Amino acid sequence: MSPFQHFPDAMIVTDAALRITAWNAAAERLYERTAAEACGHDLDAVIEPDPTVGATATLRTLVDARAELAQRTPSGRRLWVDCAVGAYGEGRLIVARDVTARHDAEARVQEYQRRLRDLAAELTLAEERQRRELAADLHDHLGQALAMLRLKLMRLKGDAVFCGLDADLEGMQTLLGQAIRYTRSLTFEISPPVLHELGLAPALEWLAEHLDAKQGLTVRLRAEAPVDPLPEAMRVLLFKSVRELLTNVVKHANAKTATIETTLESGALVIAVADDGVGFDPTTHLHPRGDAGTFGLFSILERVRALGGRLEIDARPGAGSRVRLVVPRPAGVGP
Ligand SMILES: Nc1ncnc2c1ncn2[C@@H]1O[C@H](COP(=O)(O)OP(=O)(O)O)[C@@H](O)[C@H]1O
Ligand SMILES: [Mg+2]
Repeated sequence: MSPFQHFPDAMIVTDAALRITAWNAAAERLYERTAAEACGHDLDAVIEPDPTVGATATLRTLVDARAELAQRTPSGRRLWVDCAVGAYGEGRLIVARDVTARHDAEARVQEYQRRLRDLAAELTLAEERQRRELAADLHDHLGQALAMLRLKLMRLKGDAVFCGLDADLEGMQTLLGQAIRYTRSLTFEISPPVLHELGLAPALEWLAEHLDAKQGLTVRLRAEAPVDPLPEAMRVLLFKSVRELLTNVVKHANAKTATIETTLESGALVIAVADDGVGFDPTTHLHPRGDAGTFGLFSILERVRALGGRLEIDARPGAGSRVRLVVPRPAGVGP
């Protein structure tokens, strides 16, 4: 009988040739073989790896170590087992604990997280589609109507019937001009047409100029690598992320200048947004505080993850900040 017979974990002892010499009651339950069936046999013949899981270590290769191994029982039950192996006499002592339930729960959580991430990306894309429709409507209807009005007003100016109303007509024309400019800039702000018509790089250029003119923040754009063409989802998610990062610079950084830098690094597209402002501590600001509901950086993180990429934040209080979006370039796309 195994000296470990009543231990709660599966305890297995082998000789120098890795033949099983002791097999306790917990091992019988876990691996569905009696001590009589296991003892005297080769370790790997009794405890089989799960063939459906990609290459994991086998018990034979594990010495003075601990690992979670995918294994299969004679009835075909699939297990994840936490195995610790140590030298014991001439052979080895193996302590094995079933962690399948925890493993499966973790896999479910991961799958759930992946789906939430996809949902977040899909929501961003749906929002952009709606904004685009709204922008097109504004342009096609209100914008066109205002332009027509201005044209008609111009014709009236030379008309004898309106003689003496020149100053009024002039005033109306000025107002119409303002309304047209406002509609145009609103259309761009809701959904910049350059993003959809020309691509990410021209849209970033527009964003830089727009922030300069509107917020007084000097934004330099350094395009070290050509980024376009990109699939629509990538274009939209990256543009929205950069816009959010620059909004943060305007809102929080108290910076004079910001830079947007696009580079290619071993197959990945990298967009870095840096500022020379007050900086911050990313460890406390990346994850939303339940009550405060700040989701900016968090949603950027989820967007780049949905694209299979990652977010790198290099920021310290008093030392400015630099945020890098690193996303794999889709195969077959790009110059
Ligand atoms: N460029 C920046 N400079 C200084 N602080 C920043 C910068 N970007 C983010 N932060 C800090 O990180 C916090 C979280 O940012 P974010 O998730 O976008 O939320 P929000 O902008 O809604 O506050 C901000 O409240 C701010 O304190
Ligand atoms: Mg923000």
